[in-house]
Amino acid sequence: MRFPHALAVLAIGAAMSGCKATGPSKAENTVVTEAKHEVTIGGKDVKNPIAYTPAAAKEGGEHFQHHCQICHGLDGQNTGVPFAAKMDPPVADLSSKDVQDYPDGQLKWIIENGIKPSGMPGWKGILDDEEMWNMVHYIRHLPAKGSLGEPAIYKEEAEEHEHMHGAAHEHHEHKETKPHTHKH
Ligand code: HEC
Repeated sequence: MRFPHALAVLAIGAAMSGCKATGPSKAENTVVTEAKHEVTIGGKDVKNPIAYTPAAAKEGGEHFQHHCQICHGLDGQNTGVPFAAKMDPPVADLSSKDVQDYPDGQLKWIIENGIKPSGMPGWKGILDDEEMWNMVHYIRHLPAKGSLGEPAIYKEEAEEHEHMHGAAHEHHEHKETKPHTHKH
């Protein structure tokens, strides 16, 4: 019974884009948040089949840091992600009450299906069930904000930016004769 859910999401999306100019009011936001929690997100009664252990959370964290850090940061709290606040809707802080209020089954459903029409992709077919359930354990046991540093990709970009604007002229010549090869 996914179809009515999809319709509800479309309706919410349409309602939200209708008031882009002023931004949704607080009341509208609450309605949208509630609708999301109650109606559109499935999996409410599905229990995490994997018991919590620090090892399970750690494994989930490794997958998280592979697939999700690009938007959510290494710590799930957007640390060092330059566009996190600029996305519409912004990238959720996974330590926030709104997110932690979801039962495990809904968190797993979100990872699996994504949230349309926002920028949160679904990972069905990319991650298997066990990886997603371990990620849920990681989301429940996030490290302290900022404690893991920033995703390497943004650090490198910031450094290159500095090089380009820095006073290092030798660097410039060096670059032209020997273009640096950068492996990602
Ligand atoms: C391309 C950027 C992007 C990637 C990659 C991404 N997310 Fe998200 N995520 C978002 C955005 C944007 C939101 C906010 C969506 C909303 O509020 O509707 C979000 C929201 C969430 C939420 C909360 C949903 C809610 O209703 O508040 C969870 C949980 C989540 N993401 C988990 C993950 C996990 C786990 C991964 C990796 C498997 C991941 N995300 C990868 C952009 C991303």
